[in-house]
Amino acid sequence: MPSERIPLSEPYLAGNARRYLEECIDTNFVSSVGPFVERFEREVADYVGARYAVACASGTAALHVALRLVGIGVGDEVFVSSFTFIASANPIVYLGGTPVLVDSESTTWNLDPGLVIEELEARIRRGAPLPKAVEVVHVLGHPADLEALLRICIHHGIAVIEDAAEALGATFTTGSLAGRHVGTIGRLGCFSFNGNKIITTGGGGMIVTDDATLARMAKHLTTQARVAGRGYFHDEVGFNYRLTNLAAALGVAQLEELDGFLVKKAALAQRYDAAFQGCAGITLPPRASFAQPSHWLYSILFENSTERDAVLDRLNRAGIEARPLWTPLHLMPPYRKAEMLGDGLVSEGLAARGLSLPSSVQLSMEQQSRVIDLVLKGFQT
Ligand SMILES: Cc1ncc(COP(=O)(O)O)c(C=O)c1O
Repeated sequence: MPSERIPLSEPYLAGNARRYLEECIDTNFVSSVGPFVERFEREVADYVGARYAVACASGTAALHVALRLVGIGVGDEVFVSSFTFIASANPIVYLGGTPVLVDSESTTWNLDPGLVIEELEARIRRGAPLPKAVEVVHVLGHPADLEALLRICIHHGIAVIEDAAEALGATFTTGSLAGRHVGTIGRLGCFSFNGNKIITTGGGGMIVTDDATLARMAKHLTTQARVAGRGYFHDEVGFNYRLTNLAAALGVAQLEELDGFLVKKAALAQRYDAAFQGCAGITLPPRASFAQPSHWLYSILFENSTERDAVLDRLNRAGIEARPLWTPLHLMPPYRKAEMLGDGLVSEGLAARGLSLPSSVQLSMEQQSRVIDLVLKGFQT
């Protein structure tokens, strides 16, 4: 009999999910009006320690609005990691902006702050224009090293936007950012509640900020820029990016489970680490000393793509979903011509050698052991 399928990262709709959804149905508040949207916004803001949160239809929508709010328009440059899911960069292009792709550093796999700082300093020296924003992605739930980067960006009026889609619950543990959640460091931070994320609303996102004006403008833009109290009067071109009450109800229930999910994810990561530690040919995921990651998707590196692909095939044939890490943006058609900081070799290496393993909250010990055994088959430990 074939073994059961093990997904990469599936939702776990525990706790009050059903009760809150039934409440929406019973009260008929299933669309964008209803108490759960505001409650979800308030509770996410409180959880991460931001003053304001604005719910959106997706993480991509949240980034689109956040970039628009810092004034990205035609021709404006935004520095962004090349090693990320494509939705980090697409909203820059929606606005007519120009993404400048940044290679990763190997300590966290995130955008290399050294490359950004070097480029900013070089431009400052020759009086060249600076980018309007730096979008920092916390890939796979590991916080990016942004202390020094933040300092120079603030000094020169460059907006920092955080794409924290994969990193809800991740924090900084040392330095001037100690104790703070990802998403609350830049001018605006964005989260995703897509089905494969740490918590899900089916589909959804959130913008967080400490700036009351930006929060008000975010709400305005996500609701078709409709002016309250004036019927159908719109003072600019907005978006229908609202989150529904149904989705927010699920979000509230999921948020109640988040701390437990993070503990479970950390335990899964620890068990994978223990199994792969010391295995020649496997590199463990990043664990920078300044951060507590969310362990969204546990990912390891092999010596080369041939070894990675052999393990991937072995897992897939056994019904275990594993996934190679992203192709860097600079290698894909929409971004091939983008300017690049760094030679791209770090991100290309991650893409060639990296593999994400099943990381669902409800992954059982037995299932995890099956994954571990198959990964280790063929390796000497
Ligand atoms: C890094 C990153 N940015 C942005 C997004 C976009 O979020 P969504 O799928 O909710 O639009 C995702 C996830 O899908 C992501 O992983």
